[in-house]
Amino acid sequence: MSELRQRPIATSKSSNGPDKEPNFRQQSSDDETDQDHGISVLDIIRVIVTILIASCGLSYYMTSSESVLWGYRPWYTRWPVVKQWVQGPVILTPSQLSLYNGTDANLPLYVAVNGTIFDVSANRMIYGPGGSYNFFAGRDATRAFVTGCFKEDLTADIRGVETMFLPVEDIDEDITPAQKKIRREKELRAAKARVEGAVNRWSGFFANHEKYFEAGRVVVDGGFDGEPLALCESAQKQRPKRSAMVEQS
Ligand code: HEM
Repeated sequence: MSELRQRPIATSKSSNGPDKEPNFRQQSSDDETDQDHGISVLDIIRVIVTILIASCGLSYYMTSSESVLWGYRPWYTRWPVVKQWVQGPVILTPSQLSLYNGTDANLPLYVAVNGTIFDVSANRMIYGPGGSYNFFAGRDATRAFVTGCFKEDLTADIRGVETMFLPVEDIDEDITPAQKKIRREKELRAAKARVEGAVNRWSGFFANHEKYFEAGRVVVDGGFDGEPLALCESAQKQRPKRSAMVEQS
């Protein structure tokens, strides 16, 4: 008995001849080996599902039971955003927009930056009546977003606001008017880029905020007429001084 079990299996050459009957025992053993080492599609699916479940569980634990997707909340899982999407964007004039400042509790709370209206109803504490940033509600106050002058600059008129980033010419320099002009133009371009950057940062803040969302656009009749606004006092004070810049260089 034991002799039988231990006897090595004959190769096809020795037992059956080269091209005769195949050795079925050998073949079936090869099949088993193939099955043991091969990875099936089912195995791959099993591994992926396990990783996903483990990731969800870990996320749930790490985010203090807040999210199974590591804080990611697709827009279609947020009811107010879906509702807005179905209704389409709101198009409001500045005076219509002013109704959405929180005084009517039945209306959403809107702020606007650079003509885009954002729904900030999720944060009545800040933007609602009595809130620390209620002055931004119901209007497009892009200028104040740049200057930080929350009394004087509650307007969308940003003409001339780039001056806040231009140096105050407080010394006489030994350079030609042409050199001054070229330098001024370069600085003006940089100042305008900074204004644009500040505006885009705030638009991005509202657009990408987990609780706010874009609601529509403000329509204005033409542009702004008349003289550009004077720079508010605190922005004026923050302007760099040429003397300090020369000293540094
Ligand atoms: C250009 C200047 C500034 C702008 C445009 C600005 C704008 C804002 C806005 C829009 C919010 C609300 C954020 C949200 O929806 O969660 C906010 C919050 C806040 N900001 Fe400013 N801010 C400015 C400067 C400052 C400065 C200088 C301080 C501090 C002295 C400050 C202190 C705060 C505080 C404490 C909050 C939280 C408000 C709260 O929880 O009630 N901000 N800011």
